[in-house]
Amino acid sequence: MPLTIVILAAGQGKRMRSDLPKVLQPLAGRPLLSHVIATAQELEPSSIHVVYGHGGERVRDALAATPVSWVLQAEQLGTGHAVAQAMPQVDDGDLVLVLYGDVPLIRAATLRQLVAAAGPKNVALLTVELDDPAGYGRIVRNARGQVQRIVEEKDAPARVRRIREGNTGVMVAPAKLLRRWLARLRANNAQGELYLTDIIAMAVKEKVKVAPLAAESPGEVLGINDKAQLAAVEAIYRARRAEALLTAGVTLVDPARIDVRGTLAVGRDVQIDVNVIFEGTVRLGDRVRIGPNCVIRESEIGDDTEVFPNCVIDRATIGPACHIGPFARFRPSSKLARGVHVGNFVEVKNSVLGEGSKSNHLTYLGDAVIGARVNVGAGTVTCNYDGVNKSQTHIDDGAFIGSGSMLVAPVRVGARATIGAGSVITRDTPPDKLTLERAQQVTIDGWQRPTKKA
Ligand code: UD1
Ligand code: CA
Repeated sequence: MPLTIVILAAGQGKRMRSDLPKVLQPLAGRPLLSHVIATAQELEPSSIHVVYGHGGERVRDALAATPVSWVLQAEQLGTGHAVAQAMPQVDDGDLVLVLYGDVPLIRAATLRQLVAAAGPKNVALLTVELDDPAGYGRIVRNARGQVQRIVEEKDAPARVRRIREGNTGVMVAPAKLLRRWLARLRANNAQGELYLTDIIAMAVKEKVKVAPLAAESPGEVLGINDKAQLAAVEAIYRARRAEALLTAGVTLVDPARIDVRGTLAVGRDVQIDVNVIFEGTVRLGDRVRIGPNCVIRESEIGDDTEVFPNCVIDRATIGPACHIGPFARFRPSSKLARGVHVGNFVEVKNSVLGEGSKSNHLTYLGDAVIGARVNVGAGTVTCNYDGVNKSQTHIDDGAFIGSGSMLVAPVRVGARATIGAGSVITRDTPPDKLTLERAQQVTIDGWQRPTKKA
């Protein structure tokens, strides 16, 4: 049967104490809701409907690029009412899977199992065994272990509260039956809401089979209501990503101190030290070593390259066998060939460095095209900005830039040219020659140091 997914995301999330709607709170740098949508997409459903709340325009705007259909639930009258808002857009022949915008760790594999247990005459329900089921609806089974109904905690007598099997809220039901059941929901309960959970008793009454599936771990179905739960889920997410890296053969000095917030592709024998954050799509070649305290975003790092501690690398392509840092910063659009060294307190932006070139200390390289085997001395600045326009600096193969030089762009340093230390270079320099620009050094005879006035 075709699958339709309905994601409930209309809740306010008051306990977040935040101006940002709950489902937009970030997990691994992305809105909670976008994690759920990504998992939903893995199931390749015929459509995804997101039920959003009054004033939730911000939610729609934040995820405007996501191909889902948006359904407004103007008033939050309960989970059953929320699902009902999406039903006009759902075909009778579909299976409907209900997910939650604030339950972001649910795995596609679990959902596939759940969907497989549902059918035209079957409802499937994801449950979870909990040490402390407080706050959850309880799954009531009969003597033969068959699910009879779900009782919300606020409506539950003590005997039911003692049940430790909780309702995750995630379920799959055939659209045709679901539509009929939703229309019959009544708000005659402790919260005065239309409970989605009441459809289970209706199914049982009509002899529709309810297939329970127990979630593998409570972590997967954790709902987020406050910042403490958000942090707990972030920790679980972090651990999952670290574990996947370990499985892939990466050496992690401490799996609890690495954050993979995007897609990280790794070669063989990669080593990653503590407190490293990866964002966006990052690719590390074979035998790459990353030192502690680095942030690496949307970048590629070639085989055998070592990144020393405290580097920030953003949208750079770094070749093989390079030495980066400590304390190097790459701003977007830089490309390094093989064997390049970029060292301490060097900032590189929108620049190309050819094979074997070195810039080891205290330097700014912006909009620079640097050839092979160039040596850039300490304290060199490519003066690429005149306050209005950006200009390029070219440094050709084998050139040597003396320390403390200002290269005022647009300018070109010829191949194998040497620039004397402390020069301000404003015109192109010829290849193979020494060019320098320097005031005469003078010594004042008979000069005396000032003395402290009485
Ligand atoms: C719900 C379940 C409970 C389950 C628990 C798991 C019901 C009646 N109860 O309880 O059995 O154990 O989830 O966490 O379903 N929402 C809307 N519109 C509404 C109401 C809710 O979109 O009108 C969304 C919320 O944003 C939230 C989700 O549905 O993401 C759950 O709603 P909530 O009110 O938190 O339900 P619980 O009381 O936690
Ligand atoms: Ca809840």
